[in-house]
Amino acid sequence: MSKRIVLCLVLFSGVSELAFAADVEWQALPQTAPAPADSPTTSEKVELGKMLFFDTRFSSTGNVSCFSCHNVMEGGDDHRPTSIGVLGQVGGRNAPTVWNAAFNSAQFWDGRAATLEDQAKGPPGNPVEMGMKDLNAVITRIRKISGYQPYFEAFSGKGGSSPSTMPPSGQGVMMKFPLIAGTTYETKHKLTYTAPYFHNGPVKRLDEALRVMGKTRLNKELADTEVADMVAFPSALDDRFLQQTMPRLPPTPGDLLTEN
Ligand code: HEC
Repeated sequence: MSKRIVLCLVLFSGVSELAFAADVEWQALPQTAPAPADSPTTSEKVELGKMLFFDTRFSSTGNVSCFSCHNVMEGGDDHRPTSIGVLGQVGGRNAPTVWNAAFNSAQFWDGRAATLEDQAKGPPGNPVEMGMKDLNAVITRIRKISGYQPYFEAFSGKGGSSPSTMPPSGQGVMMKFPLIAGTTYETKHKLTYTAPYFHNGPVKRLDEALRVMGKTRLNKELADTEVADMVAFPSALDDRFLQQTMPRLPPTPGDLLTEN
């Protein structure tokens, strides 16, 4: 099992599950991410997806891409309490990592997108993220960049799927957070009663995050030595992120950004 996979298991499982770690059979994540039954993963789709991920031209101002908030040159997030989108607008939520997101059982902190395919439709039309009017405006822009055409043709010819026929491949397993209400952490970090994890980005350090989880989910004040052990464990497994290469994007027609 690679070091990073173990790290992800530890961090995603959270403190309450760690309490049962002895009973759990630890398994590596599969090498290949799951794909919808009617849209198998192909190298062409991966290439196209990577281009779109890095392409800033599907934001109203032409300077924000998925990569702006999900820096896959390292942790897959932006290290900000909450993200900044078009026109410097500050959003309300903390950007989670996109590393291994294909293995999540649901997307977003409230699980409102069942699949990655659903999730990807959100950011371009979100006024404080990529700020496009709607998905049609995004499609119009993509069509104007003629260099993308062959990539989309390859997509539709090889198991491309339409959103209406796509079966949901994920199921939300969201827990009320904090489970134990009224702790000092709620006021200290402005944790809202129904919010899971640290969606509003108030906790900067892993040791503090573990203390918050211990108190608000298990009603347990973790001892300094327990916290130190739990911090030391994933830190010891830390590893470098995969080497990334930037994609080459098709050229821009002169009038591309005149409408959004
Ligand atoms: C302006 C910053 C910003 C941009 C641009 C952006 N994201 Fe995000 N992303 C976020 C934030 C903030 C969240 C958490 C939102 C929430 O939970 O409601 C998020 C959540 C996600 C998630 C869910 C991960 C999880 O663990 O639930 C995925 C996947 C994702 N984004 C992929 C993308 C893709 C693909 C794009 C480009 C089409 C994109 N993002 C563009 C900030 C951004």
